[in-house]
Amino acid sequence: MTRRKIVAGNWKMNGSLESVVELVQGIQTYATLDVVVAPSFVYLPVVSNMVRDTDIKVAAQNASEQAKGAYTGEVSLSMLQDFSVSHVILGHSERRSLYGETDAQVAQKVAATLAAGLTPILCIGETLEQREAGITLDVCQRQIDAVLDVIGTEEFAKVVVAYEPVWAIGTGKSATSEQAQEVHKGIRDHIAKRSETVAQVVAILYGGSVKASNSAELFAQADIDGALVGGASLDVQEFNSIIESAK
Ligand code: PGA
Repeated sequence: MTRRKIVAGNWKMNGSLESVVELVQGIQTYATLDVVVAPSFVYLPVVSNMVRDTDIKVAAQNASEQAKGAYTGEVSLSMLQDFSVSHVILGHSERRSLYGETDAQVAQKVAATLAAGLTPILCIGETLEQREAGITLDVCQRQIDAVLDVIGTEEFAKVVVAYEPVWAIGTGKSATSEQAQEVHKGIRDHIAKRSETVAQVVAILYGGSVKASNSAELFAQADIDGALVGGASLDVQEFNSIIESAK
């Protein structure tokens, strides 16, 4: 089964209006893969407008599970739809560790995102402590099951999973392609226990210190369907090289 590759840039809380515009102008796309960029909420209108006639897709870095109301500081999915956002990064480890997002809350966000017709990019992954304790797959399975139990197996086919070992995020220390492939396969095998078909269609991205020098090797692995790129996606040449290595 050949799954279409996805390269997504997570710009986190970085950039300025000027640098974001410059970055978007420089991004290369190829017909054979999906390129997604996730600017800060405030830059979504500008970026969406810029990419309107291109193949670049736009993601938000979070969304509320609530439809509307008294939730100061939150952004709803319908607001994101107003700006042609197609993907939403959910459950990023920074959201989980710094802002206390739980598995249950992430599951509600995934459900709301799918209900709105957008594609969730569900981030999962273990901490260094958990890896050293030998529970990497247990952690990933728990994070996936929390979502599967809420949305059901069939809907999970529309989810993009991003396996991001927490110890590899922003550290410069990527998982090796073997380490990543092992977990990606473990995740796919776990989904296959519910449905072989769904397991085969689900895109599983790797994230955590992906750069131009390691992307090709990661993308060559059977169960790695692309990348969620943080730091390296802020450098247009570096990001373009990563995109090129996925085509
Ligand atoms: P990084 O971040 O590429 O800077 O490690 C990845 C992410 O947090 O999605």
